[in-house]
Amino acid sequence: MEPKPASASSVTMTQIVLPFHTNVAGNMHGGEVMKLMDSAAGVVAQRHSLCNVVTASVTNLSFLEPIFLGDLVICNAELRYAGKSSMEVFVCVKAENLSRGEIKPVVEGYFFMVALDRNGRPASVPPLKLENEEQKRQFEEAQERINYMKKQRS
Ligand SMILES: CC(C)(COP(=O)(O)OP(=O)(O)OC[C@H]1O[C@@H](n2cnc3c(N)ncnc32)[C@H](O)[C@@H]1OP(=O)(O)O)[C@@H](O)C(=O)NCCC(=O)NCCS
Repeated sequence: MEPKPASASSVTMTQIVLPFHTNVAGNMHGGEVMKLMDSAAGVVAQRHSLCNVVTASVTNLSFLEPIFLGDLVICNAELRYAGKSSMEVFVCVKAENLSRGEIKPVVEGYFFMVALDRNGRPASVPPLKLENEEQKRQFEEAQERINYMKKQRS
C-alpha cells in the first residue's frame, strides 16, 4: 500500500455548546467533548484506511480548562502513527469565547483506532508518510506509547 501523509486525513470539527451539552452550572459535560473527539478521530482513521474503524483505547486524555455554554468548540484531529491495522490519532480541542474572541486549549488526548475488514477482523492500513522531523519525532513517541500499552495488556 502507498504511504499517505497525515495532511490527507486530518480534520477540524466544530460545535457550539448548547444547553443540553452542559451541567446546571453551564459547563460542558466531559463526555460530550469526548464524543466529539472520538468522532473526529474516527474520521481521520477512516480517511486514512478507507475502512470501517473502531476505537480500541484512549490515553493521556487531559481536561485542561472548562468549556462553557455558548463557546465554539474546535476539535482538531491528526494521524500520528499507523501500524499494521492500528492508528494513533492526536486530538486537540480548543474553545472560543465568541463574545470576547478568546481561544484557549481545553482538552487533548490520543485515540487508538483499529481498521476492520468486512468480517470485523483487523485490516491492513497504509503506512504513514512522515514528511518532516517533527512528524518523525511524534511517530517515535507514539511507538513508545504503544509498546507501553502492549506491555500493560500482556
Ligand atoms: C480493537 C479490536 C478490533 C482489536 O481486536 P483484536 O482481535 O484484539 O486484534 P489484534 O490483537 O489482532 O490487534 C489488532 C491491532 O489492534 C491493536 N490493539 C488491540 N487492542 C488495542 C488497544 N486496547 N489499544 C490500542 N491498540 C490495540 C493491536 O496492537 C494491533 O495493532 P497492529 O495491527 O497495528 O499491530 C477489538 O478488541 C474490538 O473490536 N474491540 C471493540 C472496539 C469497539 O467496539 N469500540 C467502540 C467502543 S464503544
